[in-house]
Amino acid sequence: MRRVAVVTGASAGIGAEIARRLAARGDLCVLLARRADRLAALAEELGGEAEPCDVSDRAAVEAVAARVLERHPSVDVLVNNAGIPGRTSFADGDPDVIERLIRINYLGAVWCLRAFLPGLRAAAPSDVVNIVSVSGVVAGPPSGPYSASKHAQLAFSRTIAAELRGEGVRVHTVKPGFAETEGFRQSWLPRPVQRIVMTPGDVAAHVLRSLEDGRGETTVPWYYGPIGALQDVMPNVFTRVLSRVPKAP
Ligand SMILES: NC(=O)c1ccc[n+]([C@@H]2O[C@H](COP(=O)([O-])OP(=O)(O)OC[C@H]3O[C@@H](n4cnc5c(N)ncnc54)[C@H](OP(=O)(O)O)[C@@H]3O)[C@@H](O)[C@H]2O)c1
Repeated sequence: MRRVAVVTGASAGIGAEIARRLAARGDLCVLLARRADRLAALAEELGGEAEPCDVSDRAAVEAVAARVLERHPSVDVLVNNAGIPGRTSFADGDPDVIERLIRINYLGAVWCLRAFLPGLRAAAPSDVVNIVSVSGVVAGPPSGPYSASKHAQLAFSRTIAAELRGEGVRVHTVKPGFAETEGFRQSWLPRPVQRIVMTPGDVAAHVLRSLEDGRGETTVPWYYGPIGALQDVMPNVFTRVLSRVPKAP
């Protein structure tokens, strides 16, 4: 029987690439995002199913999950990937953006996990992939509110990994560094950093390896790993350095 994989934020970037790779290994992909036209096109390409949905809308997520679980009572993989960028300031930025970041990047993953959990439990051993970010372990301008949403998502992911371990639901917490996508343009980075910018395919390939090898929590590329620990050890040095970063609009 085909494995069933639910992928959020599948209409673009990293999510679309993860769905392509899951479909290539034979999974039936159920694709979630807001842009229905894009989802329909990818679902046709992959022989999957499109379920337009705003993951920040808890009632909408529950309704979609109920429909999907009726067709597929067992869900083998849930990829919580939907997310938005947020280069804005806590002090002077648009408060709606600060709120939206939390509702989509953090709570969206929580609502999807809760809604699809009956299917994941039915399929156990099953897998949840939470696409967090290196921003989940390091914080500062110009993307503080984005970092805060990813810190919250990391806390959720680590907690749920421990809570579900005994039930055979394996949680993979993936923390990517910079990748060039439609939502996350990286042209603002200094030229030397441009060289380490990944493609969405690089991140997707890492996710597939994690699913195959059961890697748990990982950073991609690995060498971003110590950055969070450095900020923990030398927070005041980071504050001084980051205070020189130009403010977000
Ligand atoms: N690119 C990077 O450098 C980078 C680094 C670390 C982590 N990440 C994380 O990777 C994930 C994917 O980002 P990406 O770079 O692939 O960005 P992207 O190309 O902009 O794709 C974002 C996806 O999320 C969907 N999405 C956004 N808001 C949504 C909502 N409310 N409900 C449902 N779907 C929603 C978008 O689809 P619709 O607009 O159609 O809804 C789109 O499919 C995000 O969680 C991001 O934080 C990215």
